[in-house]
Amino acid sequence: MNGENFTLITGASMGIGKAFSNACAARGMNLVLVALPDGELAAVQKEILATWEVKVLVFTIDLTEEDAVKRLYDFCIEMDLTIDVLINNAGIGTGGRFENIGLEKQLKVIDLNNKVLVRMCHYFLPLLQKQDKAYILNMSSMEANLPLPYKAVYTGSKNFVYAFSLALREELKRGPVCVSVVCPGPVVTNAEGLERMKAHGSRAKLVVLMPDEVAEIGLKCLLKGKTIIIPGKINWVLVKLSRLFPTATKMRLLERLFRVYNTH
Ligand SMILES: NC(=O)c1ccc[n+]([C@@H]2O[C@H](COP(=O)([O-])OP(=O)(O)OC[C@H]3O[C@@H](n4cnc5c(N)ncnc54)[C@H](OP(=O)(O)O)[C@@H]3O)[C@@H](O)[C@H]2O)c1
Repeated sequence: MNGENFTLITGASMGIGKAFSNACAARGMNLVLVALPDGELAAVQKEILATWEVKVLVFTIDLTEEDAVKRLYDFCIEMDLTIDVLINNAGIGTGGRFENIGLEKQLKVIDLNNKVLVRMCHYFLPLLQKQDKAYILNMSSMEANLPLPYKAVYTGSKNFVYAFSLALREELKRGPVCVSVVCPGPVVTNAEGLERMKAHGSRAKLVVLMPDEVAEIGLKCLLKGKTIIIPGKINWVLVKLSRLFPTATKMRLLERLFRVYNTH
């Protein structure tokens, strides 16, 4: 499309993905936004077009469908888009005791958080490699460093994203594509998130960020080529401190802090 560059963002209809879309648009970056059909993506597109002078294309699809990422890729090729930033943000979670959560639900988390993310990197890397400079930002979580009991599969999926991103970054370090991984702590993105924060009481307020803050820090650090991005000073300190604790002590403490999810 006229040689203009585009940023591709998954899960852009709400929450952190929507915030990334706005942060990119504010920097004059053209966008390809992806989310599920029948959601708020068209409204996000309209809002951004009304606010910033950028191009915004939308593609709605369930990314966990077997051929979805290929269809998205084909769309970008048909539109002759130059992609120079890929933000793999779409993700879902589960909370509760592992044995109480249905297997299908658990596997869906892995499908979206991991399989889709790998497919996105696989399909779009060759396009990114055609650029002089390009970026991939993968959405992990603080939980990649602090494995949370009662969120076992989600925590595991984010650990995969973390390790995969570091390894891929190293493999690609002599090329034009820079890979970063962002590890936010709790972010209030909806009413459920607000309830979760309230359930944890005042200590939660210390670590909770808003989507706009995560996106602003995430994008700034991505464009600077930072490897691991942990938004929020306290969250950063907590991750560093957690490495000083013996694993068993750390896990006992985390179990106690997150026991509230036991009955979710
Ligand atoms: N919120 C937090 O506290 C937090 C903390 C750390 C990391 N994260 C990570 O940050 C990312 C965004 O989280 P969020 O809280 O902003 O999420 P969110 O508000 O629930 O938004 C999720 C986005 O992903 C899209 N999506 C969900 N399933 C999809 C599918 N199968 N195919 C295509 N799109 C799909 C949704 O589309 P529709 O709106 O159309 O359904 C929506 O745009 C996730 O990877 C999450 O794990 C979140």
